Amino acid sequence: MKLVTIIGARPQIIKAAALSRAIRNHYSDQIQEIIVHTGQHYDDNMSQVFFDELQIPRPDYNLHVGSASHGVQTARMTEGIEALLIKEQPDFIVLYGDTNSTLAGAVAAAKIHVPIVHIEAGLRSFNKSMPEEINRIVCDHCSTLLFTPTKAGLENLKHEGFPINNGGPYTIDNPKVYHCGDIMYDNSLYFADIAEEKTDIIQRLKLADKPFILATIHRDSNTDHPERLSAIFKALIQLSKECQVVLPLHPRTNKLLKTNLDEALQNQIFNSTNINLIPPVSFLEIIALERHAQLVMTDSGGVQKEAYFFQKPGIILRPETEWVEIVETGNAILANADEGRIMEAWQHFKNNPPTKFPGIFGDGYAAEFMLDKIISCKVL
Ligand code: UD1
Ligand code: UDP
Repeated sequence: MKLVTIIGARPQIIKAAALSRAIRNHYSDQIQEIIVHTGQHYDDNMSQVFFDELQIPRPDYNLHVGSASHGVQTARMTEGIEALLIKEQPDFIVLYGDTNSTLAGAVAAAKIHVPIVHIEAGLRSFNKSMPEEINRIVCDHCSTLLFTPTKAGLENLKHEGFPINNGGPYTIDNPKVYHCGDIMYDNSLYFADIAEEKTDIIQRLKLADKPFILATIHRDSNTDHPERLSAIFKALIQLSKECQVVLPLHPRTNKLLKTNLDEALQNQIFNSTNINLIPPVSFLEIIALERHAQLVMTDSGGVQKEAYFFQKPGIILRPETEWVEIVETGNAILANADEGRIMEAWQHFKNNPPTKFPGIFGDGYAAEFMLDKIISCKVL
């Protein structure tokens, strides 16, 4: 069986590590994986570092699309992916998550009848102003095999009319939905101890035995709106009076920080000895930071989940989340980009540190589950 895997943005490269590892360890005699990097993320610390660190095979192709507006970027990717699918004639294309690389892969494959496997299917924010919401809906509705990591994802797909107890053969018109664990959980379990052994970021940043908050910010809904970005940074300044803050800066945020925050606020941030702005870190480094942090504050999908995996309270810098279970268990609070709500959430978790993190993301073997289903679908 031949799979073409599309990756492009940082979280997809990380997710692909789990599937590639499972193929290498258990299915190398049955599955050939061709990896296509769209080039959506291209800085070394947004791309190459993960290949080096997570034993992901080098991409067979790189489309080098780089940054552009949504339409231009997606069009360039679609064109490149279509040509490769025609050349490679795979049994399935594998798409992760909800980025423009996902959308391009879905549109290219569906139109030329290459069946789609969507990993992280069914997630919804119910906020169509997010580019990701459009991408995930389109991808789900073009897919043949949909792997949803959560019960909420399964319910969302049911509500959108996906059949649940249907038999094969599975096609784009008779798609199959599987509820399985989360592939990011596979990775966090697999790499947690390796991270402790192989990184010295905690020592390097002088964080050993020091309480600190790990923060990440990159959503366009925060970075591109001066009033929202300012509210988040004002909260960080307040928090930094109580606690160290470590903030690995996504390149989008790094650029917009300088244009979207006023000079006085920028000075406060750059001159604060308790706010540690650092370049994006590697996966082993971020999971070491997540494990040692007192609390995680983020607008990232991946980071809010990893905070939960490592049993840390989370403050989510968005009005809603697709990972509703994290909020429902009380282990994360939706504070939006609201300074007051962020500070209230911080006080809440200081007074009531969460202790129960039910296992809602599977058993750490989601990749093997998915590969079994993909193989048996071909047999059908
Ligand atoms: C993208 C995804 C988002 C995902 C995020 C993960 C879409 C629509 N968005 O957002 O869902 O959560 O990746 O990180 O697909 N840039 C660089 N170097 C890079 C990459 C980007 O400098 O290697 C800068 C460029 O100025 C670029 C900006 O970051 O314009 C945004 O990059 P882009 O890939 O368009 O979107 P992200 O915000 O990264
Ligand atoms: N991540 C990383 N280094 C960083 C920040 C994040 O390796 O400096 C990892 C993080 O652990 C998670 C993934 O990148 O696995 C999440 O990516 P991101 O926040 O960019 O996107 P999202 O998950 O919101 O789509």
